[in-house]
Amino acid sequence: MVLKKQIVTAALPYANGPLHIGHLAGCYLPSDIYARFQKAKGNDVAFVCGSDEHGVPISLRAKAENKTPQEVVDFYHNLMQETFVRMGIEFDHYSRTSSKVHHETAQEFFKKLYDQETFLTQTSEQLYDAEANQFLADRYITGTCPNCSYEKAYGDQCENCGKALSPDELINPTSALTGNKPELKSTTNWYLPLDSMQADLSKYIESKKGIWKNAVYGQCNSWLKDGLKPRAMTRDLNWGVSLPVPDTEGKVMYVWFDAPLGYISATKEFMPDQWEDYWKDPNTELIHFIGKDNIVFHCLIFPAMLMAEGSYVLPNIVAANEFLNLEGEKISTSRNYAVWVHEYLNDFKDRADEMRYVLCSIAPENKDADFSWEGFQARVNNELVAIFGNFINRVSVLTQKYYEGVVPEANNSAVEEDLWKEAFWFVEAIETQIVNYQFRDALASWINLSRLGNKYLADQEPWKTIKTDQVRTNTIMHNAINLAALIGVYSKPFLPATYSKLAQPLKIENAPLEYSALSVPSGTQVENIPLLFQQITDEEVTQQQEKLKPKDLFKLKPMIQYDDFAKMQLVSATIKEAKKVENADKLLQITLAVSDDEDKTVLSGIAMHYKPEEIVGKQVTYLANLAPRKMRGIMSEGMILMAESEGKLVFVSPESTIENGSEIA
Ligand code: MF3
Ligand code: ZN
Repeated sequence: MVLKKQIVTAALPYANGPLHIGHLAGCYLPSDIYARFQKAKGNDVAFVCGSDEHGVPISLRAKAENKTPQEVVDFYHNLMQETFVRMGIEFDHYSRTSSKVHHETAQEFFKKLYDQETFLTQTSEQLYDAEANQFLADRYITGTCPNCSYEKAYGDQCENCGKALSPDELINPTSALTGNKPELKSTTNWYLPLDSMQADLSKYIESKKGIWKNAVYGQCNSWLKDGLKPRAMTRDLNWGVSLPVPDTEGKVMYVWFDAPLGYISATKEFMPDQWEDYWKDPNTELIHFIGKDNIVFHCLIFPAMLMAEGSYVLPNIVAANEFLNLEGEKISTSRNYAVWVHEYLNDFKDRADEMRYVLCSIAPENKDADFSWEGFQARVNNELVAIFGNFINRVSVLTQKYYEGVVPEANNSAVEEDLWKEAFWFVEAIETQIVNYQFRDALASWINLSRLGNKYLADQEPWKTIKTDQVRTNTIMHNAINLAALIGVYSKPFLPATYSKLAQPLKIENAPLEYSALSVPSGTQVENIPLLFQQITDEEVTQQQEKLKPKDLFKLKPMIQYDDFAKMQLVSATIKEAKKVENADKLLQITLAVSDDEDKTVLSGIAMHYKPEEIVGKQVTYLANLAPRKMRGIMSEGMILMAESEGKLVFVSPESTIENGSEIA
């Protein structure tokens, strides 16, 4: 067999939030299964990915959190990289677009197109924020949606009604940087002339007919039908890859120009001396795994860039998936409605494979799919535990019990011939389905092997024959062990952690991923296999469902100026006395020492949370200049600051005791 050379890529995730299960199901899991499979087949595969660290959402997030963009991406890059490892997603190299190699790679690529005059130079009027001294990307402009009147619509999209917008459609557009009304100012940018590349791109897309999924091919065709237009590859921003062109300060590459080049830089970092043998050899297969929102970038824009450059291979396959919903609703990072992968791994320690199994079994390959915790429980308990785990466990227990682990001789009958015919049929199906990107089906074929095994044991009943027919029992167990081994070998791409629990005891560490090879000859000493999976309990399901219920999240109130804040006189004070207020369940009357010789009386609504004697001696934060107010005939002079969380009230106290009356600002 001729071995293949493949570059397998998974879309670079934006470093502005953690990974959720939708990312895994749509992109990272299928690409990992595919790459593991191809490698196990002996093919020469470079599986690369990295963090996408540029783009406007990242700079906006940094601004909102009062951090630098680099701080934001450092945090999420590390979190995502660690999460991939814990999840068994095994890239050959995981890079990031802020890396030096990436900046150099992208600049070199840009420079070549620039020097050979691929780009169109166009000057246009763009929205500009004079106070911030900055041009405003569409995302930086907010205003009222012309469609639904939502007041916080972005210049590229209304997140309330979903309508795609352009900034000039917004009613009362304002700059997200300063709140000012943006003005128009002319600026020069460089455009990829997709219009004049239309014929070449059409030819390229046409050659993918019947090879790419209909949804992918169809989307490309509809873009082509509308007619491609030149598209700006540079932006007036200061976060991104700077342009290797003189006098272009304040401009960077469009994030969708530099990000896909990240596949190249990641390969370069992985194989500094050989990367060109992959990227520039026409025998290489370039295979992209992405979500459906990335189709146009991978199928038209990136190929156009590569064509214009001229020395690279073009994408062979763009395996784009649909979206995964969660309990019937859209997953949303901004609304914090998701199953975050790192949280799953904390809640379900060492149970990455359970999630891999379930997500692969419902992968949104041809239409949107839905993840539910009850469905998760059902798949794990009824399939992984009851079918696969059960078969492996029965084989292991019987082998130890009857043979102390030494594999017996076989004297196969027609029953075994049928067994292997069926088993090999399933294995062949797994193989074809994986190379055709049908991972759901492949996994179903794999679990069918264990169904087959359970049926074989149930029909042949070695626990009965052991009493009457030793030779027959030997045959049954020999075959059962080898079927378990075959299932084990083929678990490798899907469930890598489980595979490594099976491989050593079953002596299949070196068994090839090949369906004709029976790997455990008689006489082999196999070892006891530990229980592979546990049931998912109802409590675990309820806990996870609870986590998804909406909580009162932190919501930003309208901005204030420092002067607004400075009007408040906040000082430290110590509670000297406290007592209940008659006929008021919630109120405590508190005497506060604000200095050595000055006390204040404050009424505080904390009687349901604290007993008077508990709080005496506590130092608190006191708002001194709040206008006095009479309640229940008592004058309350100011207020004690409390923090509330899920109905619980706590004091906001200085971290260590300080003099009373100290200013807090
Ligand atoms: N960061 C993009 C997203 O999450 C994907 C980038 S893929 C690449 O939608 F091609 F640009 F690398
Ligand atoms: Zn709207």
